[in-house]
Amino acid sequence: MSLTDSVQNKQLGVITCKAAVAWGPGEPMVIEEVELSPPQSMEIRVKVVCTSLCRSDVTAWLSQAQASIYPRIFGHEASGIVESVGEGVTEFVEGDHVLTLFTGECRSCRHCTSGKSNICQILGLKRDGVMHGDQKTRFSIKGKPVYHYCAVSSFSEYTIVHSGCAVKVSPIAPLDKICLLSCGAAAGLGAAWKVANVSEGSKVVIFGLGTVGLSVAQGAKMRGASQIIGVDMRQEKCEKAKSFGVTDFLNPNDSDEPIPQVINRLTGGGADYAFECIGDTGMVTTALQSCCDGWGLTVTLGVPKQKPEVTAHFGLLLNGRTLTGSLFGGWKPKSEIPSLVEMYLKKEIELDDLITHNLPFEDINTAFDLMKNGTCLRCVIHMPEIEGFPMAGN
Ligand SMILES: NC(=O)c1ccc[n+]([C@@H]2O[C@H](COP(=O)([O-])OP(=O)(O)OC[C@H]3O[C@@H](n4cnc5c(N)ncnc54)[C@H](O)[C@@H]3O)[C@@H](O)[C@H]2O)c1
Ligand SMILES: [Zn+2]
Ligand SMILES: [Zn+2]
Repeated sequence: MSLTDSVQNKQLGVITCKAAVAWGPGEPMVIEEVELSPPQSMEIRVKVVCTSLCRSDVTAWLSQAQASIYPRIFGHEASGIVESVGEGVTEFVEGDHVLTLFTGECRSCRHCTSGKSNICQILGLKRDGVMHGDQKTRFSIKGKPVYHYCAVSSFSEYTIVHSGCAVKVSPIAPLDKICLLSCGAAAGLGAAWKVANVSEGSKVVIFGLGTVGLSVAQGAKMRGASQIIGVDMRQEKCEKAKSFGVTDFLNPNDSDEPIPQVINRLTGGGADYAFECIGDTGMVTTALQSCCDGWGLTVTLGVPKQKPEVTAHFGLLLNGRTLTGSLFGGWKPKSEIPSLVEMYLKKEIELDDLITHNLPFEDINTAFDLMKNGTCLRCVIHMPEIEGFPMAGN
């Protein structure tokens, strides 16, 4: 049998593979044998090569709000290689290197064609644990459904995504590094460049110096911001933050003075731009209070663990401050993410220093613990090699 025959046979059939299955909110992952259906119309099946943990995975896993959509496979920041394609897919072929997209781009809806938004109406963020097309799952265990996360579910040897929820990338790009561009690093860079459009000489404050916040700092530095104040309650974030462009580090636990007051003093009247990269809506208020009147812009990126409502004194808005937010840094993912991969290859953007840990798939619970305890930036999970499947680039 030729390789083409065996791939076609695989396309016809269900495969079994190992996946990290969460059986309930906050319960440790169990590596299970799961069945994965063939890719359906306009879908692709991907051999996951590397997948890093993002704070959003941990927030969703700890949340009780979606207790009904378990068992579930998390993971949405991933790189991989196309294993097979479903009917109608012309954009990808077997062997293409891809990044998965937790928010896709259909290229035809009102938002995709607007030039103003990356909030695709057809392939946007999927919160309900099923796939975009038929609202069903592709994973099962002994015939019972296993739910998805963001229609990506990369904590599995193989996964299925809609072809609009993956982007082809250069085959020479290291998959163990560029997986960070599948969510956190790209989200931060885009918030600075596309959403805020940080200008030269400006004053910036960033709340939360994880991967997202440090990527905002990197983006602001590259735009020539003159002052980048980083706020984080973990003192150990200070040194790395400086290497990403943070000029002043503030630990709220060390300050008796309210943070907006400190920032007002340090900037001479408030920051031009403030970014919330924690996931705490109280901090969105603090960020808005830390901006200047007239044009101060607050961009919120965090996904809150609790209290989704944001409160702010109306006077801040009357005085000309603006509050906005962004999903995936405002990038139109299929059109724009390949250029970030090229920038990484030309050493124009830093990703490697955002990776503090590398672990094999079987240690995925350690990765969750590291993130839960706040002791890592990105932990990259390396998926096992599969006999006969080339994992070039890893
Ligand atoms: N909008 C998007 O597209 C997008 C993409 C990725 C992540 N996110 C969200 O952005 C946020 C940041 O993600 P991350 O992966 O960088 O997370 P992270 O946990 O690595 O970073 C958060 C940082 O905030 C600090 N922090 C926590 N509470 C604090 C407080 N009260 N005061 C000061 N500092 C505090 C932590 O020490 C940590 O350094 C999360 O809410 C995540 O869910 C959003
Ligand atoms: Zn993410
Ligand atoms: Zn669309």
